[in-house]
Amino acid sequence: MSIEVSSTGALGRHERSYGRIYYNYEQAVTGQNIDEFLHDAKDTLAMIDGQEITRAAVRAVISSKVFDDSLSEEGHLLDHIEAVAPLPTGEYLTYFGNNSDSRKSSTMDNLQKKIMIKNNSLLSGYSLTNGGEINPEKLYELWRSFEWRKQGVRDFLGSLATDKARNPEDRSIWFSGINNSDGELVSAMMAERLDMPSSVDIMGRIALVEFTEFATAPHERGKGLITHIARNLANSVRDDLSEVPHLIFAECNTDSKSDHSAARAGFNMPKIILPNGKIVRQNLEQNVAVDGALRDFRLMTYLGESQS
Ligand SMILES: CC(C)(COP(=O)(O)OP(=O)(O)OC[C@H]1O[C@@H](n2cnc3c(N)ncnc32)[C@H](O)[C@@H]1OP(=O)(O)O)[C@@H](O)C(=O)NCCC(=O)NCCS
Repeated sequence: MSIEVSSTGALGRHERSYGRIYYNYEQAVTGQNIDEFLHDAKDTLAMIDGQEITRAAVRAVISSKVFDDSLSEEGHLLDHIEAVAPLPTGEYLTYFGNNSDSRKSSTMDNLQKKIMIKNNSLLSGYSLTNGGEINPEKLYELWRSFEWRKQGVRDFLGSLATDKARNPEDRSIWFSGINNSDGELVSAMMAERLDMPSSVDIMGRIALVEFTEFATAPHERGKGLITHIARNLANSVRDDLSEVPHLIFAECNTDSKSDHSAARAGFNMPKIILPNGKIVRQNLEQNVAVDGALRDFRLMTYLGESQS
């Protein structure tokens, strides 16, 4: 199922929006294919030219043994690790990035250690919707800052309706929104799935479910709406994929503090120390634009509120 503004992308190496070359590696990386992977990763990261391509990124599922042993011999590649998420299979989803000098971030704030989780209930007058009766114009208003076009929003809603008819474990997109007391859509988010190969799982794959397009109308911000949506969406995805190994994660725009919203909803920034002793920053540098400017995005994974 293809979505016009896809956040996860597809397997393989593709040129993508905002001057990026992006490689979702097609094989799980193990002792068997590590040399091939290192070659492909270095080759991809070297593709920036400072003009057409200003960011190269590689995302791969890497076995724990390779992560612990072989990557440490690759000092150069270790320096390019931007983010790492432990997977339920024991493997690591690892992001490597290389940006042109013109595309470097300034500073990123530290995620507050303690994010207060306020009352979980939705303010009175507001109601959740899972996409049944969405006005495409209203959703377009919310998502236009992520470069959606009106037709793309209409197509997305059509795909969502088709997807809902599938077996829960086969679903690949989800939506959650909030209407205000006038029945107007004022906050929305979607989740998008990409199956990546796993060398551990017996099905040979792991479902990566990315929560994305976090948006609340400016006059409705600060009421906990996106937090509520993220919790609701996480419960739906978990129910649907209860039999499928999966990771729920989000790449959160740190300028709008959506990482704080995600933390309130039960997401965490994974704490990973590399073999060379460095702490992974979990920062996807100047990855895509929001409201016309390139932003840094923090990788957050969902563990559930009880564990956060
Ligand atoms: C990021 C964005 C989606 C946040 O929307 P939101 O609905 O205001 O977010 P939250 O649900 O987290 O609520 C935020 C505030 O409400 C407060 N709040 C009030 N009642 C609350 C409740 N019951 N539960 C949780 N938070 C509550 C929170 O404390 C928080 O305030 P703080 O940041 O000063 O601590 C919104 O700012 C936005 O659309 N930004 C532009 C688009 C963008 O950058 N999106 C991110 C792309 S990854």
